Amino acid sequence: MHFRSLLPLIFIVAAAVFCSDLPVSARSESLRSSSFSVALETLQKHLNYDFQHIGLLRRAMTHSSYSEENNKALSVLGESIIEASASLRFMTKDVDISSKDLNNRIAELSKVETSCAVDGMRLGLQNVVRVSSNTNSSTSSVVCGAFRAIFGAIALDTGKSDDAGDVFFVVHGGAGSAFSM
Ligand SMILES: *[C@@H]1O[C@H](CO)[C@@H](O)[C@H](O)[C@H]1NC(C)=O
Repeated sequence: MHFRSLLPLIFIVAAAVFCSDLPVSARSESLRSSSFSVALETLQKHLNYDFQHIGLLRRAMTHSSYSEENNKALSVLGESIIEASASLRFMTKDVDISSKDLNNRIAELSKVETSCAVDGMRLGLQNVVRVSSNTNSSTSSVVCGAFRAIFGAIALDTGKSDDAGDVFFVVHGGAGSAFSM
């Protein structure tokens, strides 16, 4: 049969196409993704939190310039969690705090340059977060987005925003930074 005699040839062609096409890009892609995995492991140690669903941390460390599957919504959730758990802490300390003081203290905590970018840089997120080749991963907005997304990711991982808030306060307070109660 014709087809039978052609089979070996089909295999050879297929193998040639496969081999000529894949190696370089596949190798560099797998290198890149394995160093990303190592970075995620290290980050979990610094956070003192191990993800059940590592895909959530992976997404938290992915900027919108890199993929459609990115950290933008996680970052919104994370910011809300930080504000809610901070409000709870402030009011647990002082139930008579004025709304103005409470708002000021929350605003202080949410400031991009002085708070979340500093925390994010300290965690080294600028070296972890995946961005497109023409995006600077050290800018405050990229680092902050990634930092906040971590807490959105933890809340989704456990189903509890309190757990994420607890991790935040350890990370934020860890350097003896501005968070005074
Ligand atoms: C990236 O952004 C940081 C912080 O804004 C800045 O210091 C650095 O010079 C920028 N790097 C490049 C290559 O633009």
